Amino acid sequence: MIVLKSKREIEMMKKAGEVLAACHKEIAKMIAPGVSTWEIDQFVEGFLKKHGATPQQKGYKGYEYATCASINDEVCHGFPRKEALKEGDIVTIDMVVNLNGALADSAWSYAVGEVSDEASQLLKVTKDALYKGIEASQMGQRIGDIGHAIQTYAEGEGFSVVRDFIGHGIGASIHEKPDVPHFGLPGKGPRIKEGMVFTIEPMINLGVYQTKMDANGWTARTTDGKLSAQFEHTIAITKEGPVILTDQEG
Ligand code: MF3
Ligand code: CO
Repeated sequence: MIVLKSKREIEMMKKAGEVLAACHKEIAKMIAPGVSTWEIDQFVEGFLKKHGATPQQKGYKGYEYATCASINDEVCHGFPRKEALKEGDIVTIDMVVNLNGALADSAWSYAVGEVSDEASQLLKVTKDALYKGIEASQMGQRIGDIGHAIQTYAEGEGFSVVRDFIGHGIGASIHEKPDVPHFGLPGKGPRIKEGMVFTIEPMINLGVYQTKMDANGWTARTTDGKLSAQFEHTIAITKEGPVILTDQEG
């Protein structure tokens, strides 16, 4: 069942999204060789607390951290760790913020110092792919149109789209319907309606799209060891078009 949200609920989720966006802006300033994802995770805990919010991922299905921190070939759900980031790494920081019971979810990939041309191209294409997906999220279109837009673009740029993890409705809990794949056929899937709130979070790989699970049961990485990037926003569908609830660039 797809739960449609009221204007008031969307407004509350937007407030959570504003805290999340502000937090990402601070993380962007912190990212540098020598900083660890453990320190970033600690920073996020403090930042959210200061803003009266809580990290919804902590305790979710036994997950122990405020953020997911996925480095290089890690696709998603990497654990924050004390090892320092190195020049040339790329790292995705993903979090879900709870503010007064309303949730927002956003992941962002960052370059650590100077990165290779192919890494910086991957970051650019993955972010653009997210915005292509958002553009396709219009009332009356289908959920499949979103994935089709993302896949057509990303594959056209020579990259691949992860199949094993997808976007999702979000509301009272992190994962609701609808499922939002980042690949697929236009005209397929549920119709996009006013009041839907969901994430679009393409994970785009330099090499093959396949992933494998680490022994920790959480962290997915590319099977070929090549880089993976991810950008995620939470969006609300309105008559005026999709509204980004976690906008840090606008
Ligand atoms: N933000 C993640 C997502 O998009 C949430 C991961 S759940 C966690 O699905 F427990 F790993 F944090
Ligand atoms: Co998400």
